[in-house]
Amino acid sequence: METDRQTGKGLNRRAFLRNAGAFTAASCLPVSLVELAFADESKSFRFAHISDSHIQEISAGKFVRNWDRGLIRAVAETNLLTPRPDFVVFGGDLAQLGTKSELDHGAEMLSKLDCKTHCVMGEHDYYLDLGEYWSKLFGPHHYSWDHKGVHFITLNSVLTYDDWTYHRWPSNQQRMLEMAGLDNPNGSPFMVGEAQRKWLAGDLEKVKKDTPVVVFSHSPIQKIYKGWNFWTEDAEEVQALLKRFQTVTVVYGHVHQIQYNQIGNISFNAVMATAWPWPYPQSYAQAESYLPKLTVPMNRADPFFERDATGWQLIDLASGRVAMNYNLYDNTNRTVAYDPKQGRPVDRKYQGPASRVPPQTRY
Ligand SMILES: [Fe+2]
Ligand SMILES: [Fe+2]
Repeated sequence: METDRQTGKGLNRRAFLRNAGAFTAASCLPVSLVELAFADESKSFRFAHISDSHIQEISAGKFVRNWDRGLIRAVAETNLLTPRPDFVVFGGDLAQLGTKSELDHGAEMLSKLDCKTHCVMGEHDYYLDLGEYWSKLFGPHHYSWDHKGVHFITLNSVLTYDDWTYHRWPSNQQRMLEMAGLDNPNGSPFMVGEAQRKWLAGDLEKVKKDTPVVVFSHSPIQKIYKGWNFWTEDAEEVQALLKRFQTVTVVYGHVHQIQYNQIGNISFNAVMATAWPWPYPQSYAQAESYLPKLTVPMNRADPFFERDATGWQLIDLASGRVAMNYNLYDNTNRTVAYDPKQGRPVDRKYQGPASRVPPQTRY
């Protein structure tokens, strides 16, 4: 391997850029990402996380171009990483309305990833056929695995009450449409559910309390905002099962924005979507009945840049703690990492209220 003259680090730029000819955005990869990829931390490892591509079929065989391009770009940038990430996680909402053609089209794009991929169920993947076809493509809805001393768990956190799922809607398509909106007054709160919690309790029994645990879910496993289903109804019960472990992180999709939080021993980190950003709720007051006066399906600062406020993550795992490196398309990248002094994740470039761009108030 060549040695970089300036940094002295062993790296091979030719290997790093081996796919550059096939992907012209390679030159956009940020320097910080390159440095991370070549850092020598023998006890840490890295994986990539891509989420919420919402592949949507407009008419037979024709898909929304913007959403396709978001996922294609994330896959291409992930494949450019050298050394290779240990694996990739896809965080759910691969499809928009859960049809076979949407899932097939998304799966084909994901198949271009050149390392092992673990998939999480999103509500847009689930509510047409309750995850049946998704399972044929990606396997079980919940499962666990161990990797380099860390116990990883994938949950299907988008289940809901049986009455809503099985008895309320005249067709499966209607059920899917009702759950697909952001303001969905006819929707129903997400949950992990009793059966899966029982499985989780059993799975965790064999794990030592000093083993780092990382949970992947689609909804947050915490209660952020019920009006938009940024919410998991049985979050406290799931959190209780994770309580005896020293180091726990939940990484979730669904909210299409950077969020981080600490509840007891559990760190929470959200990921970006490759499709579009959701606006921030006007209030995170957790008032169940509160709905913002007006919401919009997208909230782009720059409406002429289709990839604004979208991206994917390179996740660093050192000593069982997660550092989220957000790779924001043509934007300033952010890192949210656990701070031992504060005992919670912090945004290393956090802007205090005085220096923030004022929130959008007109639509
Ligand atoms: Fe989503
Ligand atoms: Fe979702």
